[in-house]
Amino acid sequence: MGQIFNGKEIYAIGGGKGGVGKSFISANLGVLLAKNKGRVLLVDADLGGANLHTCLGIPAPAVTLSDFIANPSMQIQDAIVTTPYENLQLLSGGQDVLASANPKYTQKAKILRAIQSIQADYVILDLGAGTNYNTLDFFLIADKGVLVVIPEPTSVENAYRFIKSALYRRLSLLAGDSQTKAVIEKATKNKNDLGIRNPAELVSYVMESSPETGVLLREALNQFRPRIILNQVRSLADIRIGFAMQSACLKYFGIHMDFIGYLEVDDHVWKSIRARQPVVINNGGKSFRGLESISHNLMNDFQMKPE
Ligand SMILES: Nc1ncnc2c1ncn2[C@@H]1O[C@H](COP(=O)(O)OP(=O)(O)OP(=O)(O)O)[C@@H](O)[C@H]1O
Ligand SMILES: [Mg+2]
Repeated sequence: MGQIFNGKEIYAIGGGKGGVGKSFISANLGVLLAKNKGRVLLVDADLGGANLHTCLGIPAPAVTLSDFIANPSMQIQDAIVTTPYENLQLLSGGQDVLASANPKYTQKAKILRAIQSIQADYVILDLGAGTNYNTLDFFLIADKGVLVVIPEPTSVENAYRFIKSALYRRLSLLAGDSQTKAVIEKATKNKNDLGIRNPAELVSYVMESSPETGVLLREALNQFRPRIILNQVRSLADIRIGFAMQSACLKYFGIHMDFIGYLEVDDHVWKSIRARQPVVINNGGKSFRGLESISHNLMNDFQMKPE
């Protein structure tokens, strides 16, 4: 059944913790969508630690976002390279830490604008670990932001922190006045003297002093809809973590989060990276089925149903 898209969709794949499978999932979703759905641009937004090309099985591109930042006359199109996969292009992040890992605000704005202007059906942003503003801002320009979580307390904790930081960043960018920005800044600290414990309480707090801004923030809170993927699961109990996180987000943060799928621990994954061939190429195995279901849920705004 055909589906009509008006313009492109931007997906961001983040998650806070390092080494959980963000790049592996980005690369394979990219290959899958390029094969079945349309033109895809993969962006390695892990500035300073780019390795998405390795998950695609290709050498580090000669031109990257570092060149785009360094050279004012360069067009974004000139930093994009083709891959061995039809319909799939790559914009690499550059590995020279000093030049591009920490772009100035104007440089970052240039990158974000360029990404939004790119002609493609899908853009997938592979984010770096952590919750710095660069990473959060890439996450926030996406139409759909996805977190990759593994069933370990550290990863779950980092994912909550990422969600909260991204939402507060969005609210802070939305709030026009410095007074509200200061309140949001305070609210981000777990023990703040305003007694604000979560985003929902923050919105109520702002609503009392400036109702107009409060309404704006409440709308942004309601629209904020991160997705999560559980990676490296080993048991049914692991899968339940996805549903538990979904409920906890709603209950404690007032955030609607969609659990869109999981991938099992799979030897094919590391073998495929070593063999320099994405797992979805062979159309087989449990990772392939998992990725297919994830891409289906992501595109159609579906979520997992508890058994
Ligand atoms: N489902 C899986 N089963 C088995 N191994 C996996 C799975 N997913 C990821 N891995 C392993 O985890 C490693 C790290 O994955 P990846 O580089 O995608 O993580 P990342 O989140 O992008 O890390 P970074 O934060 O450093 O960018 C891979 O090299 C792979 O071997
Ligand atoms: Mg990575």
